[in-house]
Amino acid sequence: TPDGLRELLLSRIADVPDHPKPGVVFKDITPLLADPAAFGALTDAFVSLCERYEADKVVGLEARGFILAAPVAVRAGIGFVPVRKAGKLPGATLRQAYDLEYGTAEIEIHADAVAPGDRVLVIDDVLATGGTAEASLELVRRAGAEVAGVAVLMELGFLAGRQRLEPGLKGAPLEAL
Ligand code: PRP
Repeated sequence: TPDGLRELLLSRIADVPDHPKPGVVFKDITPLLADPAAFGALTDAFVSLCERYEADKVVGLEARGFILAAPVAVRAGIGFVPVRKAGKLPGATLRQAYDLEYGTAEIEIHADAVAPGDRVLVIDDVLATGGTAEASLELVRRAGAEVAGVAVLMELGFLAGRQRLEPGLKGAPLEAL
């Protein structure tokens, strides 16, 4: 059941106070990754979203998004595409800057990794302020593909990422498992 899945996932996510700095409660997903039943159930749920939104590519956001998205791509039988912090990808890239609490960050995608006609599901572990996801949608669209949706393990509602992401979704769904 959806409630059962939610409870299982929540039971495998640990709150770590004051990491990586004082006042921040870090959501640690390593217990979930270490439990094949929970990781498998999460993967199945993401695969179902790929099917529902007819995705034919999965984009994972560095770094924890890679871990979650890769098995989804394999099980769904579709390609995996990494969005990386700037400077890591070897080929020709598209780069997108976005605002952080202090300063800016930049992420990249291989320019030829997605193409017109592709429908892309973006997967990450956490939607916090929404800046990373918002920039990834820009990259997917600049590369010419269509956004099928955004799917995250968890959404930190108090940071209002959903509101920030709303315009960038252009009607595409945002699912938080
Ligand atoms: C975290 C998280 C998301 C992003 C969410 O990644 O995994 O990708 O932040 O934050 P936002 O919604 O405010 O943009 P982080 O930048 O810590 O990178 P990492 O996974 O490589 O450690």
